[in-house]
Parts: sequence; C-alpha cells; structure tokens
Amino acid sequence: MAYPIVILGSGRGSNADALLKAESKKQLGAAKIAAIISDHEDAGILQLGQKHKVPAIYIDPGRKGARLSEDAEQAYIERIQSFSPKLIVLAGFMRIINRKFIEAFNGQVINLHPSLLPSFIGMNGIKQAYDHGVKVTGCTVHWVTPDLDAGPIIDQKEVRIEDSDTLEILETKIHIAEHRLLPEVVNKLSKGKIKPIA
Ligand code: GAR
Repeated sequence: MAYPIVILGSGRGSNADALLKAESKKQLGAAKIAAIISDHEDAGILQLGQKHKVPAIYIDPGRKGARLSEDAEQAYIERIQSFSPKLIVLAGFMRIINRKFIEAFNGQVINLHPSLLPSFIGMNGIKQAYDHGVKVTGCTVHWVTPDLDAGPIIDQKEVRIEDSDTLEILETKIHIAEHRLLPEVVNKLSKGKIKPIA
C-alpha cells in the first residue's frame, strides 16, 4: 500500500537527502516522499527537493520564534493535507508543533532529535551533550506530542564521545548515525513493522 510522506525542515537537509537516497535505492519500504516543506525560503532542503523533482515548498511561518503563527499553522496543515500523507517527518524543522497540527494528521508526526532523549532536549542537542561531558550520546526518532521532545521514543542510535573528539567530529558522528536511523524507522513504519501511535 502506498505510504506518502511529507518532510519538514529548516536547514541544509542532509537527513532529507538520506531519505531521498534510501527511496532511490528502494530502501524506504512503501514510503514515497511526496513533498518537502520549509519555513526558510533559502533552505538547502528546498534546493535538494527541487534537484530530486520533489515538490519543494516554502510556507511563510508568519513570525519569528519557536512556533508558527496561527494562520501559518493552518496554511501548513492545508498544504500538507493536499498530499494525503500517511506520515509527517520533522527532519531539522526548528519550530514547536501544536496539538492542532498533530491532531490534523492523526498523530502520525515523527521528529528526529540529535541526542539520546530524554537527555538534552531543545536546541543544540549535540553541543549540550558535548559540553556536559557525557561519554555516550546519539540520536532519537520519536512521535511528536505537544510537549517538546517528550513524545514516545520509536528508536535510537548510540554514539560514543571519545576524549579526542572535537564538537565538529561529534557533529559528524551524530549526522552519520541520523542518516542511518531515520530511513530505517521510515522503512519500518511504512511496512507496519512499527505500530502507528493512534
Ligand atoms: C539534525 O541533526 C536534527 O537532529 C536536528 O537538526 C539537524 C538537521 O540537519 N534537529 C533538531 O535539533 C530538532 N530539535 P539536516 O537539515 O542536515 O537534516
């Protein structure tokens, strides 16, 4: 059964790229990337979508800060609904999603976070772990709920921090882990190997 997904991101889009590559290698199960949407007009993630001939859409977030404006949220919901997705993937989307948005998609919204939740929520998860001096960190994919980075965890990958690691080295290690984890989770969800939340 077809499993259209919509990716939301604010930045360079290396995780969207990992999903696009997995799809082209037939490693994304039944998932098909239907659209990529960003709150930044010049985000790398939109250029990536254009390169891969996937609809790549900027939607004005309505305001600066952590949340979309109410009008913008409605615009996001309607545009995303036009693709009838089974799953929304937040891959570096730097806005907090409200309950209304989550309910509009029956709870089927996942987020990628660059730490082993519940540690180091919010912004700069990699730097928070590095500065804290933990020896093991990693990345998490979880269901999105109205509470920031607190929804049920779907899967995680560990990354060890060696004493010689700089922050840049750690960032690279986390991104490598993320680029494996996110396609694996989307693949399993699309095949029904992970139960939907609702
Ligand atoms: C990823 O590391 C992701 O975990 C992080 O943003 C990066 C996006 O990179 N997300 C968060 O910090 C969410 N709080 P990308 O644009 O190259 O995929």
